Amino acid sequence: MTLVVWIGTLLGAFVLWQLVGRRSAPNGLATVAGPQRERWLTGNFHRLFKDGLEYNLGLIRQYGGVVKVYGPLGAQQLLVSDPRALHHVVVKDQDVYHETDMFLMTNHLIFGEGLIATVGEQHKKQRKMLNPVFSLANMRAVLPTVAPIANKLLERIQAQLSEGGGTAEIDVLPWAGRVTMDLLGGAVLGISLDALDPEKTKEHALTIRKVSRAALKVLVLRPFIPMAVRNFSLYWRNKMVDWLPWPALREMRELSRTLDRCARNVFHEKKDELENGITNDYDGPRRSLMTIMLEANQSGSEKERLTDEELIGQINTLLIGGDTVTTAVARVFWILAREQGAQARLRSEIKKAKMAIAVDDGVEDEWEKVPLSYDTLVSLPYLDAVVRETLRLYPPTSLINRVATKDAVLPLQDPIRTTAGEETTAVHVPAGTNIIISILGSNHNKRIWGDDADQWRPERWLTASGERIGWGKNVDLAFDDDAEGHVAEGTPGYRNGVKYPGVYATMMTFLGGSRACIGFKFAEMELKQVLATLISSLHFSLPSATNEDGVRKEIYWRMDGLQVPVVLPPHGDGKSPSVPLDVRAARETDFL
Ligand code: HEM
Ligand SMILES: *[C@@H]1O[C@H](CO)[C@@H](O)[C@H](O)[C@H]1NC(C)=O
Ligand SMILES: *[C@@H]1O[C@H](CO)[C@@H](O)[C@H](O)[C@H]1NC(C)=O
Repeated sequence: MTLVVWIGTLLGAFVLWQLVGRRSAPNGLATVAGPQRERWLTGNFHRLFKDGLEYNLGLIRQYGGVVKVYGPLGAQQLLVSDPRALHHVVVKDQDVYHETDMFLMTNHLIFGEGLIATVGEQHKKQRKMLNPVFSLANMRAVLPTVAPIANKLLERIQAQLSEGGGTAEIDVLPWAGRVTMDLLGGAVLGISLDALDPEKTKEHALTIRKVSRAALKVLVLRPFIPMAVRNFSLYWRNKMVDWLPWPALREMRELSRTLDRCARNVFHEKKDELENGITNDYDGPRRSLMTIMLEANQSGSEKERLTDEELIGQINTLLIGGDTVTTAVARVFWILAREQGAQARLRSEIKKAKMAIAVDDGVEDEWEKVPLSYDTLVSLPYLDAVVRETLRLYPPTSLINRVATKDAVLPLQDPIRTTAGEETTAVHVPAGTNIIISILGSNHNKRIWGDDADQWRPERWLTASGERIGWGKNVDLAFDDDAEGHVAEGTPGYRNGVKYPGVYATMMTFLGGSRACIGFKFAEMELKQVLATLISSLHFSLPSATNEDGVRKEIYWRMDGLQVPVVLPPHGDGKSPSVPLDVRAARETDFL
């Protein structure tokens, strides 16, 4: 067996060499400056992608908006955060910069023929049908499904608090994950996943949860997937999985089979309901985005419609994409636990909005339970500022990959210095070069966001009197790129006529262009609804627990490509994700 593994490894290394080596195009990037290649096998990747926040920001500070870094086996890649360069990557030349084959094919194998597995015309066609499904009108239509799920989260947390207003330490990360799953189930798919009822949670939700971790275990295989898919039939690929002495790989296959089966069930259930005129998606006569999507498919013109395989492919794609909100929810509660002043201000703003309705309805005593309309929820200025600022400073997805499919030129907003020390405002990108989009670096760019770019300061989004800056006709909530005209100088993220091409208030958190996050308005709604519900009734602070030496429990956010919160030693192992916060019922004194 060891021999098999060895031969496999050698063969693997050779193929990897062929795949990556051929693409590295080393000479073309000879003049772009960057750090030394630190390791033969991983280049600089072990630092970029492992607890790499300081390293990433440090590289950009030192070398500028385009940095040459070394990937696996010395492949030279570009770490890009310059606003003009990114405009080219995600908008202007988006036909040149594709997702890697590796990413697309792995996604196809695991999640089916959805948005994250397709490119070009097919992807365009899918977006054309799906963009309207995520419209503001449809967000309004699903908020009545979202609100009760957020209330259920509140009840579950309240049930963990002691009677009499005592404080309990609660790990908010799993709760953030459960509410996110139930919202995706209820409002997006129109099914109950029961994640907030741990003993009843459906297999579909459990499997989606497991799949990212399982995929990490077989990550080294990803470079081989395009080769395997192109060169071997499903039959032989299955045989290989059977033969290889690698249980993690078989687990991965099992999980993707389960996901496929679950997605097909959802699809047939929703299709039947639609055909029989039943629209009670989720304990009540409400619509889900899935039903809206199926209706759109039926009313679209023949050539705009998606095949059943494509529709089924969207189901797990939306679940895995939407799961990203989990870290954002945990992050915003962690920040508010740290920033007590901001927490009180937010609670007071929400109370005022709910109270205004409660007074009209004569239910002042129960103002916390008053539901806010979608339009009120999304336009509360401080709530909006808190959500924006959190998503700006701590983008849940920090790094995104693209590959140049042709030779191209990246023009720069701000010049960089070549290895020879000369200033340049353009970088030649040979075909095959991997581009790493630094969402983190873009959102921290001081030339765009100001000298306080590294600080969490929600006030940057507000006028001195507390109104929202950039409210109204501006770049917010728009998928198009002709927003220039609407943005006023002085709007955060817009300086001297320069801005990032991001869909969400110009920041890059949800990317821009035709592959921008389709669910960003949903993510915004979820964050705001969960905050409005929990902050009205609960108070959060950083964990107060100390060990016998008096060392206080400390949460630390690693940046491993994604954001991973951990508890530092001696209280934690520094690896397992968790966000333990002190939680108690809110008191009179917790309001401004
Ligand atoms: C705070 C939460 C979220 C963040 C930070 C986020 C971020 C992103 C980013 C950066 C991309 C581009 C990925 C790439 O091109 O490689 C993306 C794509 C995507 N996101 Fe999100 N997302 C979030 C929430 C959601 C939600 C709630 C949904 C669904 C309900 C969703 C569904 C998707 C899908 C389907 C794509 C692929 C779009 C395409 O390729 O056309 N995301 N997201
Ligand atoms: C095998 O896969 C490689 C890499 O994707 C591809 O270039 C090659 O054309 C494939 N060979 C065959 C016979 O399909
Ligand atoms: C969507 O449209 C395609 C093409 O007309 C059709 O084959 C498919 O059955 C439709 N799916 C649903 C669920 O309506």
